[in-house]
Amino acid sequence: NANPEVISELTKAFAFPISAYDGLVDQFIRELHEGLVYEHKMPMIPTFVYELPTGEEKGVILSLDLGGTNLRVCRTTLSGGGNFEIIHKKWTISDALKKGPGSELFAWIADRIEEFLTSDCHDPTHGGDKKYPLGMTFSFPCEQLDINVGKLLTWTKGFRGKDVIGKDVVKVLQDCIDAKNLPITVNALINDTVGTLLATTYKHPGCEVGIIFGTGTNCAYLEDQSQITKIRPDAPNFTSHTGHQVINTEWGAFGNISGALPTNDYDRYLDSHSSQPGKQLYEKVVSGLYVSELARIVFHTLAKQRKLFVEGASGTHKTDAELGDLAIKERFDGAMMGGIEADTSADLQAVGNHFQTSYNLKTSQGDRETIKYVCQLISARAARLSSVGIAALIKKRELLSKPHKVIVGIDGSLFNKYPNFRQHLEGALNEIFDAATVSSKISLINAEDGSGVGGAIAAYLACKALGQQA
Ligand code: BG6
Ligand code: GLC
Repeated sequence: NANPEVISELTKAFAFPISAYDGLVDQFIRELHEGLVYEHKMPMIPTFVYELPTGEEKGVILSLDLGGTNLRVCRTTLSGGGNFEIIHKKWTISDALKKGPGSELFAWIADRIEEFLTSDCHDPTHGGDKKYPLGMTFSFPCEQLDINVGKLLTWTKGFRGKDVIGKDVVKVLQDCIDAKNLPITVNALINDTVGTLLATTYKHPGCEVGIIFGTGTNCAYLEDQSQITKIRPDAPNFTSHTGHQVINTEWGAFGNISGALPTNDYDRYLDSHSSQPGKQLYEKVVSGLYVSELARIVFHTLAKQRKLFVEGASGTHKTDAELGDLAIKERFDGAMMGGIEADTSADLQAVGNHFQTSYNLKTSQGDRETIKYVCQLISARAARLSSVGIAALIKKRELLSKPHKVIVGIDGSLFNKYPNFRQHLEGALNEIFDAATVSSKISLINAEDGSGVGGAIAAYLACKALGQQA
C-alpha cells in the first residue's frame, strides 16, 4: 500500500488550513483595490464594456473564441428573452501554433474563419457590402485602448508568439481577414471572462461576475466607475454614462508581489521552470495547466527519491530515460489527472493502465494509491484556493448585501469537467461564509462555452454604441 511517510510529507506540503483563508481573502481584496488605483501587478484592466446585456438584444453576429485549448468560430443568433442559438466549429490549437510565431497563429485563425464561413455559416443576409460584425474573445491580457483596440501585454498559458506582443491584436486579425477578402469587421475585443460574464447575464439578469477555471484562471466583474481612479476622467474614450465599467482583473497575478500564497518546494520548482518565473502565481496554484504539471513534478521527484516505480527487492529506481515522458515538462495533463481521480476501483486499474500505456511504467498497488492521492491533494488545494478569489470579489463589492442572489458565471475545463472540483470549491466557500448564506445567497452558474455568445454580445453592444444595427 501507499507509504504512510510519503503520504504524510505530501499532506503537510500541500496543506492549506482553514485558518489561512481569512488573511488570504483580505490580501486579495487589497490587491484588487490597489490595481484599480495605480499601475500594479494585479492588472485590473478597464474593458470599455460599460453595460451588461438585458437579454433583449437581437441580431446575427459572428464571434471567435481563442482560449487555452481550443479555437472556436461561432455564429450566434440573439433572439431576445434571454434566448439565443449558436452554431460553431472548434479546432484544437496545436503545440506548434502555441509556441510558434504569432503571425502564423493569426493567419491560421483567419483560415479557420474562412472555412467556417464557406462550409458552416450560410447566411443570405450578410456578405458583399453588408459585413458581419465579429466579437473577438481573446483569453490573454491585453491593455485595451478602446472596445476594438487592445495591445497584447504578454502571453500566458504557454503561448509564445513574441512578434505579436505589444501589437493591437484586433488589427493583426483584421489584416489577416482583409488579406482573404472576408466580409467581416472585428468590432469588439473581450477577454474570455468578460465573455462568460456577458453570456451569463444575457440569460440570468443580475449576474455581475464571470470567472474561468480552465487552462488558466481569471475573473471579470462590473465595477463602479468612481472606484477606477487610475483612469483620469479626461482620458480618451472615457465614458461614464452608465457609471460602471467591466474590469478584467487578470487575477492569475494575485500574490506576485505580496508572496501571500502558500507554496512549497514543488510550487517553487514549477515556477522557476515556467516560461514566466515569478508571474501568474495564483494561476500556478489554481489552474489546469499548472496543477497537472505540479502533479508530474511530484511523481518525478518521488521516482528520483525511490518512492515510486521501484521494482523488485533490490529497489532499483528509474532513470529519466526510463521514466520517459514523465520526466518531461507538461507531459501529464488535466484530462489525465481527472481520469485518475475518477478511478474508484479497489485496484485502481485505470491508473495502472494509464501509466503503462502513456509512460511504459509498471505500478504497484502502493504506487497507484500514491499517484491518486497526489492528484487529489493538488486538485483539492486548487479548488479551495479558487474559492478565495470568489470570496474576495463578493466581499469587495459587498454583493451579499444586495437584495437578490449573487450570480457568478463560471466556465473552463476544471470547473466543468474535473471530478469534485466544484464540490471542493463550494465546501471552501461554506467555510469562508457559512453554508446557509452560500446556499441562500450565492449561485454559481455553469456557463459552458459562454465566450462564443459573450463575444457576439460584445459585438452587439459595440454596434449599438455607434448607432449601427448588428
Ligand atoms: C471555454 C470558453 O468554454 O472555456 C473559452 O469558451 C475559455 O473562452 C475556455 O477560454 C477556458 O477553458 P480551457 O480549459 O480551454 O482553458
Ligand atoms: C490567463 C489569461 C487570461 C484568461 C485566463 C483564462 O490567465 O492571462 O486573460 O482570462 O487565462 O483563460
